[in-house]
Amino acid sequence: MNAKDQLEPTVFVIFGGAGDLAWRKLMPALFDLSQDRSMPAHFSIIAVDRVDLTDEKLRRRLHDGVRKFSRQGMAKTTAWGEFARHIRYQQGDFKKLQTYTTLAGECARLEKEWGAKVHRIFYMATPPSMFGEIPKYLGKAGLARDRQWARIVVEKPIGYDLESARALNAVLAANFEESQIFRIDHYLGKETVQNILAFRFANPLFEPLWNRRYVDCVTITAVEAVGVEHRGGYYEHAGALRDMVQNHLMQLLCLVAMEPMVSFEADEIRNKKADVLHAVRPIHRDAVHQCVVRGQYGPGWVGGKKVPGYREEAGVSPNSETETFVALRLFLDNWRWQGVPFYLRTGKRLARHASEITIQFRGVPHQSFPTESTLDWQSSRLVMSIQPDEGIVLRFQAKHPGPKMHLRSVEMQFNYQDAFATRSPEAYETLLWDVMKNDATLFMRADQVEAAWRLLMPVLDVWAAAPPSDFPNYAAGTWGPENAQGLLAEGHSWPLPTALVGQCKKRGKNS
Ligand code: BG6
Repeated sequence: MNAKDQLEPTVFVIFGGAGDLAWRKLMPALFDLSQDRSMPAHFSIIAVDRVDLTDEKLRRRLHDGVRKFSRQGMAKTTAWGEFARHIRYQQGDFKKLQTYTTLAGECARLEKEWGAKVHRIFYMATPPSMFGEIPKYLGKAGLARDRQWARIVVEKPIGYDLESARALNAVLAANFEESQIFRIDHYLGKETVQNILAFRFANPLFEPLWNRRYVDCVTITAVEAVGVEHRGGYYEHAGALRDMVQNHLMQLLCLVAMEPMVSFEADEIRNKKADVLHAVRPIHRDAVHQCVVRGQYGPGWVGGKKVPGYREEAGVSPNSETETFVALRLFLDNWRWQGVPFYLRTGKRLARHASEITIQFRGVPHQSFPTESTLDWQSSRLVMSIQPDEGIVLRFQAKHPGPKMHLRSVEMQFNYQDAFATRSPEAYETLLWDVMKNDATLFMRADQVEAAWRLLMPVLDVWAAAPPSDFPNYAAGTWGPENAQGLLAEGHSWPLPTALVGQCKKRGKNS
């Protein structure tokens, strides 16, 4: 960090500060930022929640989360002590004005103590039912008023469908300007996701090929080996389409398909991304079954262990109709991508954990090699591997050594960790740092969120009207339901995740 990045005094208010997100993600990220000297010289973290806790008890709980999840590993007692003195607990009801006037008083007190105006960041790490309430009270207490100094952070899910997303956006807009609203999609904070823009637009090499003339199809995969873990209750009401497609997969689609930005301004990039969503060919209700496949896992084997089916998971109904797998085929109606299928796939309890984007290139216009040279021919492709392996793989044809002209597919690889010899920051570190810097580039704007919902509403409506008759339709540990193959055009396939060779791989719980 250099001097011009030095952040101004900041009060970071976490509604739901005693909850899981603060424990697992937010506090480890803030602690890691502090260890990298990326927190402001003056900062205070106020955790607001309903439970009866003291500052000390809360700090102990948060320390436990930091020990488990911090990128820095076990927090040293002195480093933690130094950081923890900035954390305070405020017990309060999210639906009482008093909670907010107390906060306003505390912000005023800190301004006086530090002799400077403070940035106020309000992070809603609460159940979604509170997302529509907290902004109203912040507004009433006058805490939202100052456009340059007050910001609100909204976690996923942003609505349950188009109507509820619009309603939530309306409440936010009634109390905050759009520039003050930071809607988190944690995928956008991943280094490898940000690298999509760097790769595409900082190199003149691939952009000329990045269009319908050379690209045969694009596949976006975000699959997990884990099941719903302890989140059955939430997942039952979400399902894979709401949980992963509406946000993370749509954001990846935007980054891979967008036009070059003119500048690196937040709104310029977000405009280009919104254009992609507007170009997606609407899915008509009567075509839903041809373009989208849903699935639910039954019992099976993952990593050599027998695992239960979704319907046997805690918090899940034994007759659940919730999908744990979705595959879609989309088209973009614009000059660049007309006719190129974009295949999207996500699911839980699949054979492996992997998120990646595969650009499959067309074959050569004329095959001049003798047929016997090309028996092992595979199409050229570029894979952007987002996680757990982080890097890029280019597959192309080469001559196999020997007297004959025999072509074989070979790979060139770039492995993030080997190239940079450093571990990437966690997505939340990047995103929280950006909120503190007031940079909204990596956050979703209201119109993007609504455009993504609009696109998926016919699918949700048709599914709600016609419950699945074949669930569970894939065994845990496989690649999902068979009928996902039916979405693919001839010559296309769901690619198996790429494994990067490299020295220092970062593997998570999911691998
Ligand atoms: C979350 C979903 O947004 O993303 C989870 O709610 C999913 O269901 C998670 O497991 C995947 O994120 P990551 O970063 O672990 O790939």
